[in-house]
Formats: sequence, structure tokens, C-alpha cells
Amino acid sequence: MAWGEVAALADGSLDLLVVTTPLEVVGQCNRREELLAVFGRQVSGVIADAVCSFLNDCYTKLRPGGVLVAYRGAEAALPDGWSDEWLTLDWVTSNGAEPLCSLQGFNGELVLAARRTREHDAYDEVAEFTGLSRSEVQRRCLLGNWWTADRWYAANPTNAAEREAFYRTSDAYLFELTHWEVVDATERRALAGKLSGRMLEFGAGVGTLAIFSAEAGCDVDTYDIGERTSAFLRWRLKRRHADVADRVHVLGGTEELGVYDTITCLHVLEHVEDPHALMRMLYEHLMPGGKLWLVAPFREELTEKHPLHLAAHAQLTLDGLLAEVGADLVGWDQLSGYDLCVGRRPVEAPAATRLPETLSLARP
Ligand SMILES: C[S@@+](CC[C@H](N)C(=O)[O-])C[C@H]1O[C@@H](n2cnc3c(N)ncnc32)[C@H](O)[C@@H]1O
Repeated sequence: MAWGEVAALADGSLDLLVVTTPLEVVGQCNRREELLAVFGRQVSGVIADAVCSFLNDCYTKLRPGGVLVAYRGAEAALPDGWSDEWLTLDWVTSNGAEPLCSLQGFNGELVLAARRTREHDAYDEVAEFTGLSRSEVQRRCLLGNWWTADRWYAANPTNAAEREAFYRTSDAYLFELTHWEVVDATERRALAGKLSGRMLEFGAGVGTLAIFSAEAGCDVDTYDIGERTSAFLRWRLKRRHADVADRVHVLGGTEELGVYDTITCLHVLEHVEDPHALMRMLYEHLMPGGKLWLVAPFREELTEKHPLHLAAHAQLTLDGLLAEVGADLVGWDQLSGYDLCVGRRPVEAPAATRLPETLSLARP
């Protein structure tokens, strides 16, 4: 059946849809020449857009519980430099579908996913908040990093003030971070289970970790410079997460910060102009004995897909930043394939129990 005939079918009418063309080819056929000419370096992101729209269309033809089978072709079929990671199982399953399995077949990776049967998810929340259709929200979310990157290239901020204005006013992160919420939920919930006490989630985005941590028993303050994502977080707490709304406080500015047992700062330090100053500020708000949980891929993602990561920070390390502020390194963990660094503010011994400056071991 040609795609035009499938497109004419009613939404939600199929139990099984098998796409027998490799997804890369779908993307290339649709728009390759046009995209190369217009977008140059960003071409793979826009091809991802084409694949994404195609998958969205396929997905909407399925009944709840219906199965989509698609495959990525052999790497050899891709032009040089296009063997990007963007076409993985996630690209089908993050549509809200339940992943079934991934197999080898048709000389490539075969992916099976079922249409979700859950009542609602974060995509629905964004659709309701923005007034966009669910499928448009899905499309933007599926593009993930590319969606944000495209907005950044279009705004073309060239100095610190323009970069800050982008973070403050853009709604790009609404979509990228919702995508992460859907695909990373298991890992983020597992992290939330390790956190405790009074907590600050700095650079909280759409509030995924804040909500999961409150569900796990923390009392959470969030701060983020992004006005749109903060407004969305306030809205979703009231509308969809009323059970934890009194345990998540969306702060309006850093002057409202308190003192915390736990501070998380995930995927933020590589974006800010002065990570050293941010670390000093976070440390000041950490209780003695409190823990700091950090993720920041300073040099791993300096690619066209991540133009928001500042190359000037490429040499920084998280343990180096901890040492700079006087925190101890507790250890390393993993969060969705990223290194997660855990530090602790040392507990100073009370003055009365401190050892004297000079200690003699000689017997009296
Ligand atoms: C890649 S997102 C990470 C969001 C969230 N921590 C997560 O892991 O899902 C980066 C976040 O940092 C925020 N951000 C960037 N610069 C900031 C600043 N100067 N102060 C506070 N937040 C900032 C952005 O608005 C965005 O929400």
C-alpha cells in the first residue's frame, strides 16, 4: 500500500502497521535536496523532522494497543556522517507508545511498538497548556534536542545577554524536556528515590525530577530562568499533580532560595555563563552534610545538535568544580547514560571537639 492510501485511512483504525521502507530513506526521500540547500549543517535534524512527522502519522492510524513495526536500515545506506543516534528505538516509543522489542531484520534494526493505552501523559499536559494539538506537541517533543537547537539557530544569540534572554523567553524547552520526561521516566524516578529532605532542583525545566522527588517524599523548591517552563510547572502542579502541589514550590528568583539537604543541578552548568559562580551559589545554599547531585556533559556534546552548550567550558570537570568550592566527592553514578557526580558539603566539627592546632603525642 502506498503512503497516500494509508494516510486516507481513519485515525485509530489499524491493529498492525508495518513500514517496510527503512526510516532513514523515508526522511531522505521526503526532503533531502531541499533541506541540504536550505539548512546546510543542520540537515540531519530536519530529516529527523521528516521521519518524525511520518512516524506520528503512522502512529495515529493505530488503535490503542495496535502495533507499529518500523526499521532503521543498515548504517551503510546512510551518506557519510549521517549515522547519527537520532533514529533509535526511542524515536518510535517516545511517541507515547509502549516499546515491545527491537530485533534484527530486513538487514537492519526492526522496532516494534504498541500504541499507548495509558489515559494521559506529559504530551497531553503540554497540549492542554499550549492549546496545540497532541500530534503537534508529539512532533516537537520527538524532535527533542533538534527542536531546541533550531530555535537557537533562528534566534542566533551572540552574547551573554542575548543567550540569557533566549533561556528566559523561549518555549523550546517545553518540548525537549517533556520528551525527556517521557523517555527517561524510569531513570529519573530511580534517582528521585535516592534523594531526601529539603531539596532544591536548580534549572528544573518542566519539573520532572521535582514532581518525582515530591512523590518520593522530598519537600522541593525549584528554580529555572525559563518563564514558559516555570509557568507550565505551576500549571501542571495545580491541574495534574495536585497530590504533590503543596510539596513543590516554584521560586520566582534566586533571592528566594533557602538552605537544603539536597541540591540537584542536572544538565545546567554547561549552559550558564559562569559555572564557577553558580557552583559557589549552590554550595552556599547547601546544609553542612548536604549532598549536591550534578550532571553536565561539558565536552561530550559540543555538536550542532547542542548549540546551547558553551564550548568555553569544555575543560571543566564536575569533581574539579566540587573541589573548587570545598565540597567532598562522594562518588559517581549514572543517569540515562550521563555521568552523575555526587558531592557533599563537609560537616565541620563543633568548636569544642576540635583538636588543638598542635597535638603532642608524647606521654606527659
Ligand atoms: C538542558 S535543560 C535541563 C533541565 C532539567 N534540569 C532536566 O535535567 O530535565 C537546561 C535548563 O537550564 C535552565 N537554565 C539555563 N540557564 C539558566 C540560569 N542562568 N539560571 C537558571 N536556569 C537556567 C534552562 O532554562 C533549562 O530549563
